[in-house]
Amino acid sequence: MKVTILAIESSCDDTSAAVIQDSKIRSNIVANQIIHQEYGGVVPELASRAHQQHIVPVVSAALRQAGISLNELDAVACTRGPGLLGSLLVGVSFAKGLALALGVPLIDVHHMRAHILAHFIDEPVPDFPFLCLTVSGGHTQLVRVDTHLSMQVLGETLDDAVGEAFDKTAKLLGLPYPGGPLIDRYARMGNPKAFCFSLPQVDGLNFSFSGLKTAILYFLQKKVQEDPGFVEEHLADICASVQHTFVQALLQKLELASLQTGIRQIAIAGGVAANSALREGLQELAAKHHWKVFIPDMAYCTDNAAMIAMAAHYQYIAGDFASQHMQAVARWSI
Ligand code: KG4
Ligand code: ZN
Repeated sequence: MKVTILAIESSCDDTSAAVIQDSKIRSNIVANQIIHQEYGGVVPELASRAHQQHIVPVVSAALRQAGISLNELDAVACTRGPGLLGSLLVGVSFAKGLALALGVPLIDVHHMRAHILAHFIDEPVPDFPFLCLTVSGGHTQLVRVDTHLSMQVLGETLDDAVGEAFDKTAKLLGLPYPGGPLIDRYARMGNPKAFCFSLPQVDGLNFSFSGLKTAILYFLQKKVQEDPGFVEEHLADICASVQHTFVQALLQKLELASLQTGIRQIAIAGGVAANSALREGLQELAAKHHWKVFIPDMAYCTDNAAMIAMAAHYQYIAGDFASQHMQAVARWSI
């Protein structure tokens, strides 16, 4: 008999629902919230309101696309955290209500674990143990993955996430939110060595991006004072140089983690995994160190419910269910 699970993701600014049958994703619907573009960043209050509007149509669409009716569901899963509390509450409350009404188990999923488990949606899948660099708007983590359910954070950012650093730099350059993909696009036309920024000095496998962000701010202020047209005239070179520095900071730690652990199965996940310089840099390191590299399909890098469904699938097999007393949590370690 097939196990069918509906999964809901609402941790930040995308409302998503997916249906998984055994280990196969049957549908994955994502509603993006464009409202935040006007404000240059995610506004939590507006995000939770938009989740309220989107959740019923998104869940209906996911069931319809999968050709599944509510009474065929064996479990309902949702992201419990980490994320914006008001956003998480929408998905968690909806999932609790639906699980209760259908009399099926509830599964609470960790958003960052799910980003990593996105690697099991499509072939080829990594072998255990592998290292995963999870890079998004809210997180920058280096994780050792021993099984689908056993993971250990080896290093993480001490301040800003790398996606946040991309977005904040883009804002300084007058680019709309989220600026990461735009920096990537302009960088393709620029010289990554045009301007030099020193790499963050952090011990071990942790990361730091706030000092670099401030260095970029001061650099731009100085240059604009000398020449008000500086940003416009050098946009591509600035983007390429900043991107190069961010990517080097990430790859340096990834390389160190691989050397320290001896693990050569390397995965990346999260929205910033879409970055072309990161992907290229990773391929270069792969050739140098004989790594086997895994990058999920773009749709499974940014926030989506398919990855929540994948995590829920493994939790279902392990009998790891949540009670109706489960509460959404803004912070939750892996
Ligand atoms: O995983 P995600 O969709 O949402 C979070 O959980 O945060 O990641 C979004 C982040 C944003 O900061 C966005 O600017 C960044 O991923 N991003 C990129 C690129 N595409 C998305 N950053 C750099 N280059 C890209 N191509
Ligand atoms: Zn995410």
